[in-house]
Amino acid sequence: MRTWRVSLLLQMMTVMLVTVSAFEFSFEAFYGNTSDIDDEYKRIIDDAKEDVNKEYPQDSLRVTHFQPRRAANSAEKLFSTNSFQALKLDVCPGIFSAGAQGLIVPNDVCYECRSVGAMVGNAVNPTIALDQAEGSKAIKMLPTTSEMVDLFVHLINYTKWYDFIVLYDQYSGLDVAVSMMGYADIYGWNVKMQNVNDHDMLTKTLKASRVRNLLLYCEYQENAMDVVRLAIEEGMMEDSYHWMLGNLNMPLTWDHVSAIRRSGAYITRLQVETKNNVASDFQTQKPEPLDEWPYRLRLAYDAVLLFSNALQRYKQRTGRFPTERVFCQTTEEYTYSPLDPEIKSVSFEGLSGEVAFNEHGDRVNYTIRIYMGKGTTVYVHNDVEEIQPLGTWTQNIKHWELKYGRQWQSKERLNMGPFRNAQVDTIKIVSLEEPPYLLDDSRVGIQGFIKEFLIHLKRVMEEELGQNFEYELELVSEGDYGRYDIVTNSWSGLMGRLVNGYADIAAAPMAITPQRDRYVDFTVPFIKSELGVLIKHPSWIWEYPFAPVFPFRWDVWMVNLLAFVVVTVAMTLIGRYNPQEWSRAAERGEASQEQSQSFNVWNTFWFNVSTLFLQSFDSSPRSVTGRVLAAFWFFYCIVMVFLFLFNLTPFLTSSKSIGIVRDVGDLLDETTVDVGFIKDSPAYDFFKYSDIEDFTRFWEYIHAANSMYGDETTIEFRVEEAVQRVRLSNGRYALIHDKEVLKKEAARWPCDLYITGGHFALVEYGLAVQSGSPLRDQLTYAVRRLQEKGIIDEIWKNNTDNPLWVELNKEGSCQENATIWEIQGLYSLTTVDMKGIYFLLLLGMGLAVIIFLIEVLAFQLGFGSSSPGHTGSRQEMQNLRGSDRRTGGGGGMGGPMGGADVGGNEKMWI
Ligand SMILES: *[C@@H]1O[C@H](CO)[C@@H](O)[C@H](O)[C@H]1NC(C)=O
Ligand SMILES: *[C@@H]1O[C@H](CO)[C@@H](O)[C@H](O)[C@H]1NC(C)=O
Ligand SMILES: *[C@@H]1O[C@H](CO)[C@@H](O)[C@H](O)[C@H]1NC(C)=O
Repeated sequence: MRTWRVSLLLQMMTVMLVTVSAFEFSFEAFYGNTSDIDDEYKRIIDDAKEDVNKEYPQDSLRVTHFQPRRAANSAEKLFSTNSFQALKLDVCPGIFSAGAQGLIVPNDVCYECRSVGAMVGNAVNPTIALDQAEGSKAIKMLPTTSEMVDLFVHLINYTKWYDFIVLYDQYSGLDVAVSMMGYADIYGWNVKMQNVNDHDMLTKTLKASRVRNLLLYCEYQENAMDVVRLAIEEGMMEDSYHWMLGNLNMPLTWDHVSAIRRSGAYITRLQVETKNNVASDFQTQKPEPLDEWPYRLRLAYDAVLLFSNALQRYKQRTGRFPTERVFCQTTEEYTYSPLDPEIKSVSFEGLSGEVAFNEHGDRVNYTIRIYMGKGTTVYVHNDVEEIQPLGTWTQNIKHWELKYGRQWQSKERLNMGPFRNAQVDTIKIVSLEEPPYLLDDSRVGIQGFIKEFLIHLKRVMEEELGQNFEYELELVSEGDYGRYDIVTNSWSGLMGRLVNGYADIAAAPMAITPQRDRYVDFTVPFIKSELGVLIKHPSWIWEYPFAPVFPFRWDVWMVNLLAFVVVTVAMTLIGRYNPQEWSRAAERGEASQEQSQSFNVWNTFWFNVSTLFLQSFDSSPRSVTGRVLAAFWFFYCIVMVFLFLFNLTPFLTSSKSIGIVRDVGDLLDETTVDVGFIKDSPAYDFFKYSDIEDFTRFWEYIHAANSMYGDETTIEFRVEEAVQRVRLSNGRYALIHDKEVLKKEAARWPCDLYITGGHFALVEYGLAVQSGSPLRDQLTYAVRRLQEKGIIDEIWKNNTDNPLWVELNKEGSCQENATIWEIQGLYSLTTVDMKGIYFLLLLGMGLAVIIFLIEVLAFQLGFGSSSPGHTGSRQEMQNLRGSDRRTGGGGGMGGPMGGADVGGNEKMWI
């Protein structure tokens, strides 16, 4: 019994000795329902204590951990549910039993109470509050909400958000949300607030809203992280969302970061500026990198450092440590600890940034870095290097300038760089060569509308939005607007640069299409351009010389010829053998000699030819048989002739109709012309993604035709190739493209191109930025300003009037405006179109000349006539005469007699 008493006494004496030792300080750390989990905070505070004690071996810090009570007979932990309970049942008895000289208190000691830190801070001094303890006498490790609101307001004025939602959890989160609402009128915002505690409700609300700009600020960072995880799972970290993560140093893990990168949300993160490699200055057992620590954990570490720093200052001043114990007091008779002035004058670099406080115990002199971006730039590091912040907000400009020995570059405490997210000093703008919008000339460099436009844009951004808008223009290869690859889920070209976060703006004649709009954001259109159809001028189209024969295919011609021959033969036979016909009638003496020859082979032939061409005939058949046959022949001729004539015009004017195309319907009617595009060009995209029925139908038509052609597709990859194809296709290929681009091509030698198409479609070009990027709203503002002032029209005009430009552009300039005859050439039949008929006439004349020669020759040689029918007819006549005169067979056998006979016949037939 006595020994027990002695040992107890000894123990008590040592306790007394320890507590009164000149160089010892004992503080008490509290834990709440989050900070108690896995003893994580406890271990960090121990680590910090060890680290400090190692640095000052003669001095020592002692800590009492006050962990939650446990329910009797169970492992369940009990947490206070109201402030009174927390203070009177936990904190006050706790400090009394521990003989503490200072407190470290997180708010989750009483999760459901409004700021326990503030309440404890007003009852106990010194209290270091790890969470918000606004307006209390506590030393506040977190920046005050009013400072955060100031940062958010300026940041949103910078991003020019118009619609946004503030997401909050409770008390101080709500304070921030309400304060933001208060600024709505001043800035013309349309702000809503949304509590995040009910995740189902939150998901439903966000998905139903078209607002994609979200400011997330929670009293408890844990709640904010839950929202981030929810957003990743529920597809709310997608493209076009801009999440401003308002809690400082959100502990995103690598998994979060890669998920966000994949989904494509635009992220703004806030990081407190810390000393380089600050983690290596302080010892800790915690294996995770500092970036993944909850911010409150850093604050807990720094709270211990804060005690140590204050104590060292106190010791320097007084030569000892303070010995006063803390106790719960009422606000009316509040006494400050002797350590309080020391705490309020420390200034050191901790894990949570620069630690310093003003006379109210509010944290001051810290600086926050602002990171914005998407894709590979979501994190503060990408895979290789540290990413530069886009901007900085400093709590105290004067302090910042003293600390860095440089001038602060902004009138405000927020100093944002020009918008960018890569490690460069300038905005990266990508574009591509597409004269006349942009031309990269080896002699004079980049020229064109886009270049001038950017210069004016820069001016507006700098003068009216106060932004230092330095930019760097980079070109991708021609025509590479970017294609979406379903397999890899990625974009190439211009689109790819934006989506991957490499570039900030794409300034090019890139059509605003719904598909692109899903991956990037467009400003309002800076220019609207018409589409045109480039064709070879019909006057230059070479037609087959014998186009007039095309209405019938060759087989029809063959059958026609056969029909002609058969009818001629039949007619001849009828003429010869039908007793009612002329020849037999003449034999009977009922018709003249001359009439008897009416339907011999030669005359039948001529009869058929003359009726074929609807001309008159010399004599008609006499017999019913002959007339029936003739009637059907007439019918056949009429049908053939009219079919031929009706079909003839399109063949002569086939090259014309494309020239008078006015809308898509007209294009669809063009059967002889293949209509093509340049792959991924504005026009291509316009049709591909259009919602208008006519355009979709046309696109499907082209698409179907193209899949049939296989290699012979009408889709070209480069403007030059497509234009060359138009020139060489002899009117069989027409190209739909931006009219301005086509105009330039049509102006080149040999001036054989023509642009048609009326006003059938309008494409809109907008500046594209990463989706969710604040640049969208900033640039939209700037584009509108330029449009209001008429500057865009002016640039466009200057652009085309600029002599240098004209020179570069129009190698071999063609007359801009077509003459009346050139225009008329589109509609009228030209000699070129008619040449087939001229050829036919010439052919006939040539044939006539040859036959004439043959006839003359035959006559000279004594055949008398080249007429094939004459031999037969002469025979007949001789037969006739033979029967009359009975001169015998010798009469026909040449000689003088025959010659006289022939001479007699000549008179009749020539
Ligand atoms: C802490 O307590 C609150 C309220 O009692 C509860 O909603 C929350 O889930 C708790 N947090 C943890 C991590 O247990
Ligand atoms: C914060 O910075 C200001 C300006 O440099 C300075 O006067 C003040 O002492 C600093 N506060 C602390 C606690 O160091
Ligand atoms: C908002 O930002 C613009 C520049 O973008 C600046 O001119 C203006 O003063 C800011 N408004 C306020 C109230 O700070």
